[in-house]
Amino acid sequence: ATNDPRGAAGLRVIREDLGDCTRCRLGGTRKNIVFGVGDPDAALVFVGEGPGENEDNTGEPFVGKAGELLTKMIGAMGFSRSDVYICNVVKCRPPNNRNPQPDEIAACEPFLIRQLGAIAPRVIVALGKFAAQTLLRTDAPISAFRGNWYRYQGIALMPTFHPAFLLRNPSAKREVWDDLKQVMAELDRLGVPRRKE
Ligand code: URA
Repeated sequence: ATNDPRGAAGLRVIREDLGDCTRCRLGGTRKNIVFGVGDPDAALVFVGEGPGENEDNTGEPFVGKAGELLTKMIGAMGFSRSDVYICNVVKCRPPNNRNPQPDEIAACEPFLIRQLGAIAPRVIVALGKFAAQTLLRTDAPISAFRGNWYRYQGIALMPTFHPAFLLRNPSAKREVWDDLKQVMAELDRLGVPRRKE
């Protein structure tokens, strides 16, 4: 558990502590820190890997091609981007979109943990290998555990494939939709309101 206030006040404190971060080398090459967007009291949080070029330029997560797909997925679930919270494991763009390195993840992870503590969502969707492996502390391949429920600090967590993976492998959309249907069912069970067809 973290000591931050809940909701918007907590996120403000966390963002202030992050500051003009240079805790890892990504601080030397980024344009903008991409902290996260959405409802500070969201019932549903999406965690991605790290900013790409569009996100680095704008300071907002998931605004490029993969972001368009994520936004569609969120809409299909009966939410808008402002109903949920969206953030990443690392807050700064790795150069040339390379994978974030273990020490970069380690430097940034405390801020993700605090964000999740302040938001205290009912469900977390981990998008792709880095989010799932970081939050669940595993080295297993995402294909081995996606689609199953886990707990992160008592919160239900569903790992699924990253939208950027879906852009390269459209046939995996069906599995992701199955995973998101499980998330919708759980949110319905918990009484979280969403738009239904
Ligand atoms: N991919 C991610 O993992 N995060 C973003 O914010 C954008 C693309």
